Order: sequence, then structure tokens, then C-alpha cells
Amino acid sequence: MLPFSFHNPTRIIFGEGKASEAGSVTATYSKNVLLVYGGNSIKRTGLYDSIKSQLNQAGVRVVELGGIEPNPRLTSVNAGIKLVRDHQLDFILAVGGGSVIDAAKAIAAGVPYEGDVWDFFTNKASIQAAIPLGTVLTLSATGTEMNGSMVISDWENKLKRGSGSPHVYPRFSILDPTLTYTVPANQTVYGSIDIMSHVFEQYFSLTDNTPLQERFCESILQTVIENVEPALENPEHAAARANLMWCSTMALNGGQISLGMQNDWASHGIEHEISAIYDIPHGAGLAIVFPNWMKYVYSERPERFAQYAVRVWGISPEGKTTDELALAGIEATQAYFKRIGSETTLAEFNIDDSQLERMAEEAVRYGPIGSFKQLHKDDVLAILKMCL
Ligand code: NZQ
Ligand code: ZN
Repeated sequence: MLPFSFHNPTRIIFGEGKASEAGSVTATYSKNVLLVYGGNSIKRTGLYDSIKSQLNQAGVRVVELGGIEPNPRLTSVNAGIKLVRDHQLDFILAVGGGSVIDAAKAIAAGVPYEGDVWDFFTNKASIQAAIPLGTVLTLSATGTEMNGSMVISDWENKLKRGSGSPHVYPRFSILDPTLTYTVPANQTVYGSIDIMSHVFEQYFSLTDNTPLQERFCESILQTVIENVEPALENPEHAAARANLMWCSTMALNGGQISLGMQNDWASHGIEHEISAIYDIPHGAGLAIVFPNWMKYVYSERPERFAQYAVRVWGISPEGKTTDELALAGIEATQAYFKRIGSETTLAEFNIDDSQLERMAEEAVRYGPIGSFKQLHKDDVLAILKMCL
């Protein structure tokens, strides 16, 4: 185990009906708030009306920024920064999925910064301050509700980049699983694959002596697998929705499950290059990339993949070599993604090989990626070709 320090300042308010506390909790932080949300989903579900009337009752002055896109765009972030400055607001309430919350974080960091907020996504500047934000999560997937990360797209230049800072951890996040009852089947699947992928990035590690962390990871993977199909069969399955929501938060909340472990994150890097150009859902991109990454790298530590096959998928080790077990676990993963309804090839999104070179080049723009196996441009290209 490696040395580590850990601090997660986000207050979690979890449970059925907790969305009704959004107004009163927000009012304890500020009376001048930018309300950020996505497309029509919060209006369709009635959540928008409820939040607005709660804020109104709590005496909060609200300025709105709706229409945040999935794979949120820099143009929306800049619009939000302008609104906060023009209306002298000092708090952001983000109501939505990962895209809405990530856009809110970027706005929060951009407000006190005199330069171009995109500097934070190109390593030109680091975040030194941010205005505070809170969130009401409506989709279980990214973990952004309890971490300091955000991913924004510069759509004009087909770039998708991440950034992060302790300054953009939400002050609070309201996790009301009933808000996810309306999440459509495909987004439920993609979100669940995203949760699993966050665990994979941490679990497939070369660091030794981390049995507790490995079991944290395995328990999240098992819990997701147990709950996805019940949630698909009955979208209002209270227990399944609650379990998926808590898995989402625990899988990526500042690395709590993998403290002291080296993480990888190459598959996320490769996926971001795909969705930067083709705007496909993040979880679908991961369902395509991850099994191929696994096949490409497993021989660096086949024992970890064999352990994954046995403990997560219940594959019997009897009569199998370590390599056979490892490969069986990878096959089980890909078959599962297919079974729950995800795409697992680029072809299913009509993506051909014409941009693979560019994606591979962009993925390694700051040097090789990954730690389980360091990937250079040729490695990324080889994995992308396996994804076709
Ligand atoms: O825009 P609306 O109308 O709200 O519809 C959204 C959107 O179309 C819909 N939706 C959300 N909640 C709903 C709902 N529909 C019905 N009922 C509800 N309760 O779902 C669609 C997808 O939403 P989005 O926010 O884009 O999904 P997700 O939460 O998966 O976020 C994806 C983004 O997060 C980034 C991804 O790259 C992508 O840009 N990530 C952020 C991370 C982080 N900050 O830590 C880590 C992740 O690895 C990821 O990269
Ligand atoms: Zn992700």
C-alpha cells in the first residue's frame, strides 16, 4: 500500500424524498443562486417546479441556466460565468446528471478567474478558487456529486478534457433515488457501466498489499451487477435505484475505495477521445473500450484478472490456468454489457477507422497514459482498432 492523504468535504443527504430539502439546504448557504439544469427531463418530471417553489419559499433569488448538453460544452460554461457575474450571484445549485454538475463546477471555478476558463482544461492554469456549489443528482453514474472532477467539451475544436480541484467539491449533494425512476433504460445501462468502469480504473492496479481496497472494489461491482437488471425490469424499484445511486457515489468520491493504490484511467482517456469527436454517451464508449483494454493489458498481472473472474463473476477456478480464468472474466464482462443492452463496438455507432489516428494521438498528448500498462500512441491505436 502506498502512503495517502484523504479529505472529502461533501455533505451527503441521502434518501427517498430528500429532494424536498433542496430549497432549505441551499438557503443555509446563499440567497443569490444560479440554478443550473439540463434539457427537458427536470421539467417533465416536475422536479423543476418543486425546486423553484422551494427556493422561492426559502427567500432565495434565482437566476437560471438551463439547456446544459450531455457531454457539456464550454459555450454553456461561459454563459454561466457571465450570468453569475452580471447578477452578482455567489452560489450554484446544479440539478441533473453528471453533465449538469460538471458544467456547474466549471462555472464555479471560472467565476473568480480572470483568464479563459478553458485554461484549467489545457494545463495552462490550475484552479485557485471557486464559488461554492450544491447538487441534486438525478442520474446514477459519474460520482461527480462527491468528487472534485469535471469534464467539459470544446465542441468547435472537438476536444473533451477533464480538470479538477479540491475547490469544486460540492458543499452538499442531495441523493434522492426516487429522482432516478424516470431515467430511461439506456441511460440506466450507461450509468451503471460508468460506475463499474470507475471501479476498474482503480482495481486493476500493480500496487501490492491492498486487500481491503480490492474488496471495496469487488463489493461495488457485485452490487451494481445485482441491481441493474431489477432497475431495468422495474424502473421504480426503490431498492435497486437506491443501491445504484450509492454505488455511483462510492465508486468515484476522491478515490476512497482505492486509497494507497496506483490508479490507471487510460480507458477513460481513450473514451473521452471518442466522445469528443462522435458525441456518444460516455458509458457506451466505456463499454466499447474497457473489455478491449482488458484483453490488451491483462498479462501485466493476470492474477488480478483471475481474482476478478472468481470473486465478481463467480467463475470456477477448477481446471483453469490463471490466464484462462483472466480471459473468462473479461469475456463475462463484455457479454454482460451486451446483455444489459449496451453497444460494445464502434461499428454500432457507425464509427469507422477514419479518426482513430487522431484519437490515439490526442490521448497521449501529454505522454503515455495508464499505469497498469503504460500505453503509447501505438498501443492506444491497437486498442481502438480492437473496438471497431
Ligand atoms: O438533459 P436532460 O433533459 O436532463 O436529460 C439527461 C441527458 O439526456 C438525462 N437524464 C438525467 N437525469 C434524468 C434524465 N432523464 C430522465 N430522468 C432523469 N432523472 O440523461 C441524459 C444523460 O445525462 P448526463 O448528465 O450527460 O449523464 P451522466 O450523468 O452519465 O454524465 C456524463 C458526463 O459526465 C462526464 C462524462 O464524460 C460526461 O460528459 N464524467 C464526469 C466525471 C466526473 N465529473 O467525475 C467522471 C466520469 O468518468 C465522466 O467522464
Ligand atoms: Zn466515467
